[in-house]
Amino acid sequence: GRVAVLAGGSSAERPVSLKSGAEVHQALRQLGLIAELVDPSEVGVETLKGFDVAFIALHGRGGEDGVIQGVLEHLGVPYTGSGVMASAIGMDKVRSKWLWKGVGLPTPAFHVVGADDDGEALAELGFPLMVKPAHEGSSIGMAKVEDQTQLRKALDDARQYDSEVLVEAWVNGPEYTVSVVGEQVLPAIRLKTPNQFYDYQAKYQSNSTEYLCPAGLSDEDESELRALSLRAFKVVGCQGWGRVDVMRDEQGRWQLLEVNTVPGMTDHSLVPMAARAAGDEFPILVARILLDAVD
Ligand code: DAL
Ligand code: MG
Repeated sequence: GRVAVLAGGSSAERPVSLKSGAEVHQALRQLGLIAELVDPSEVGVETLKGFDVAFIALHGRGGEDGVIQGVLEHLGVPYTGSGVMASAIGMDKVRSKWLWKGVGLPTPAFHVVGADDDGEALAELGFPLMVKPAHEGSSIGMAKVEDQTQLRKALDDARQYDSEVLVEAWVNGPEYTVSVVGEQVLPAIRLKTPNQFYDYQAKYQSNSTEYLCPAGLSDEDESELRALSLRAFKVVGCQGWGRVDVMRDEQGRWQLLEVNTVPGMTDHSLVPMAARAAGDEFPILVARILLDAVD
């Protein structure tokens, strides 16, 4: 069959998606499959009708948020990863957190700032704070702030990406990420950056970011973290594959940050790293994600 690798798109994460798509495309070809790169921002989606399956390597709005998933449902083309609802919730950090809170899963305290709010009501969270556009990826538009002046500027910046802005209590502690592929939860990775947080530069441009896999946790902590991540993934309704980002606070409690329904597949990316640690080279990982879509 013919595989469409969907990559590019028109979100702020377009450059990351183009890299993910190129890696996936190359792997599919190595596996002997007939694969074609398709950028939905450049061609009519009707083109997709001619394919037997779509590998979605689009990050951000329009590609990771249920929109393209809905189009593919409509066209009757099977696709990788989560369906419409879970994609939409996963792209929305605020609604993911409300959902997790609702079932008693841990996530940092937060406020949601609408387009007209000046942020005064946030006082009770204290400082520092983390400011995030509600529907972005790759840390785009995010900032750590220490006072009111920085907060106002960060809110203005974040609003350029989103009318809804999430302000989270700062978690002082290490960041981990846990990948799920099919029914398997992969080893956790610990992220270490000299930056204030794991930002865009640390993610894609830095050589000083350290990735620890195994993450250096005790067996008990590792299984607790994996179990929490899988639960968070399932509560959102995710399928196929994804990656859950988690921090550990000063009291030793896990704090869920977000779930990524189309995680990065670049050469710096985390799911491929975790898969390798579990014994699966990149093309095998790609094959597993694809097979899950046509099951
Ligand atoms: N949003 C980026 C692509 C990631 O989660 O890996
Ligand atoms: Mg994300």
